[in-house]
Amino acid sequence: MYRRLDAERLPHHVAIIMDGNGRWAGKRSLKRFLGHQQGAEAVQYVVETASRIGLPWLTLYAFSLENNLKRPRAEVNFLMRLLRTYLSNNVQRMNDNNVRIRYVGRTAELPEEVRERMAWAAEATRGNTGTTLTLALNYGGRSELTDAFRGLCAEVQREGRRLDDIDETDIHRHLYTAHMPDPDLLIRTSGEMRISNFLLWQIAYTEIFVTNRLWPDFRGIHMLEAIEDYQRRERRYGGLNDGSESDDVESLPANQLVAGR
Ligand code: FPP
Repeated sequence: MYRRLDAERLPHHVAIIMDGNGRWAGKRSLKRFLGHQQGAEAVQYVVETASRIGLPWLTLYAFSLENNLKRPRAEVNFLMRLLRTYLSNNVQRMNDNNVRIRYVGRTAELPEEVRERMAWAAEATRGNTGTTLTLALNYGGRSELTDAFRGLCAEVQREGRRLDDIDETDIHRHLYTAHMPDPDLLIRTSGEMRISNFLLWQIAYTEIFVTNRLWPDFRGIHMLEAIEDYQRRERRYGGLNDGSESDDVESLPANQLVAGR
């Protein structure tokens, strides 16, 4: 059961891999399209809950490069239409909820009518100061890193910088997400234990929460449950608990390392 969140330990950035639209439809003997349509409905519930709890950054994996390349054209076209409809129907609600919309990914490769609607929605919500909703569209983590390295290499050539002076902040500056903090919490729906090429650089220390719930059934309350679970975790960023000592594994007999030996 959901209890209240600790206001002192709210995440700054929640990212979500929205998965399971097809399975949701399949379970009901419906076409996959209807799963995506229900999935688009679920998006707005979650966005408004994020706004109500004052979450500064919410990033949703809405359309991957792989989706674009590997799904049937009819499904890709449907997803593009759904995105346009989602934006047209929800910009007013985003404004009512002080939500600003942005995008990451190779968006220049999306159809022109989609890009126009995206630009319109970004412009219409530009002045909002609450949650920034970022949709990852035509996004892939490796292609983001490739684009970042291209940008950085061009800069290095232009400015004649020494390679030894390049550090992680230089790579970070060239990511699509340079303007936002790394996610504190990554949620994945539909039970798969995979990252699927999402925010590969950014999730180095992100807490991961996987739920079996399929995306079209996911609501704000389920995001709050995930955040509640996150608040019970201790983040160590590669360090140790305060005061804890490491076990002296080297001196333990084998039967204490592997049962049955
Ligand atoms: C995975 O379901 C979901 C996607 C392809 C991306 C998410 C898309 C939406 C939520 C709909 C549109 C979004 C917006 C922002 C309007 P799947 O088809 O991979 O499901 P399956 O693994 O069960 O087949």
